[in-house]
Amino acid sequence: MSGRGKGSSVTTKVNQSVQVDVPVRVAYDQWTQFEEFPRFMGGVSQVTQLSDTLLHWVAEIAGVRREWDAAIVQQVPDERIAWAATEGATNAGAVSFVPVGTEATTVTLELEYEPEGAVEKAGDALNLVQRQVAGDLERFKAYIESRGVETGGWRGAVNEDLPVGTPGAQDAAMTRGDSGKAGVSGKAVAAGAAAVVAGVAAAAVAGRGSGESSEAGEEVDVVGEQDVVDLLTIDHAEVTALITDIWATQDGELRRDLTDTVIAELVRHSVAEEMHVYPAMRKYLPDGDAAVEHDTTEHKQLEVTMKQLESVDVADVRFAELLRQLETVLADHVADEERDQFPELRARVPHAELVDIAHKVAAAKKLAPTRPHPAAPNNQLFHKLAGPGVGLVDRLRDRLSGRSTP
Ligand SMILES: [Fe+2]
Ligand SMILES: [Fe+2]
Repeated sequence: MSGRGKGSSVTTKVNQSVQVDVPVRVAYDQWTQFEEFPRFMGGVSQVTQLSDTLLHWVAEIAGVRREWDAAIVQQVPDERIAWAATEGATNAGAVSFVPVGTEATTVTLELEYEPEGAVEKAGDALNLVQRQVAGDLERFKAYIESRGVETGGWRGAVNEDLPVGTPGAQDAAMTRGDSGKAGVSGKAVAAGAAAVVAGVAAAAVAGRGSGESSEAGEEVDVVGEQDVVDLLTIDHAEVTALITDIWATQDGELRRDLTDTVIAELVRHSVAEEMHVYPAMRKYLPDGDAAVEHDTTEHKQLEVTMKQLESVDVADVRFAELLRQLETVLADHVADEERDQFPELRARVPHAELVDIAHKVAAAKKLAPTRPHPAAPNNQLFHKLAGPGVGLVDRLRDRLSGRSTP
């Protein structure tokens, strides 16, 4: 690609469609409920709507936490929503809706992003994102079809009549030469929607290039001021999404890989809670001891199931049964913690302490890194460290808790 400046990054483009069996208005309205994206977007842990046209995203891509602000540069009811990152991880895209008769809709998601960090760059980023997007669209379909009605809708329009293309890094490259980092200035905005799109994306790229967005792409634990509740909630969403992925594939090898990843994630999560969160629960929660006991029981149930899962062949009929069982216990665990315990922790434990625990949990995770996704290139590393197969649960638990293997 000509005209790209420093960084000379290769961007990844994805284009995926799915037909959903709901009228176009329902599909579109649901898509305007951005804060509900984590319900069907696997890697997305949180979307916060800052205004009608500004969103803050938190996601995990190839195991690295990424955050960005995105501006909605065009929104046409029942037709299209286009956005571009203004700060943080560079990405842009559009989702469009085409009615198929009166009762169905084709939803197409176009996405372009700039891989960051060694993991994403070295890996088959396209494959990774492509599969993620395909999975997200399938989950969106399942979500909206099972509901039949949207959970809400915003019928406002943004730049409705202007010829906004699909924003992407290409637009960024085009304006970068003349306006560079200032691409998102008032001048560009005034020049029309196309310039807005280009400018917004340019600012995102340039911002990163100049280091303005503070190492956002480096492979560091971006824990910052995040508290431990955030971290654990992300874990829950991640593991739940991985299980959905297991159900979605018929590929035996991939199933095995995903299953081992789920096991590793869950062991790590449980040990982190036990070592770092339980003490705080006992100390600060009025019914802390009981809560810890209840949670411990659930962790044991999860572990019993995981130990069976680690050794059962994925082609075995028991596999689906065990996976279903794991899913059920996990859903219980997530509901208990997110509904009861986490709000209590936030209400009673000083924020600084919750942040401190988050750092400890993040540090502990490094002792047993999980391969974030089977398509990620550190696959080999993961297998060398953790397994796979029989004994995986125990080996991981030992390493994480400092318990020595007998
Ligand atoms: Fe737990
Ligand atoms: Fe948990």
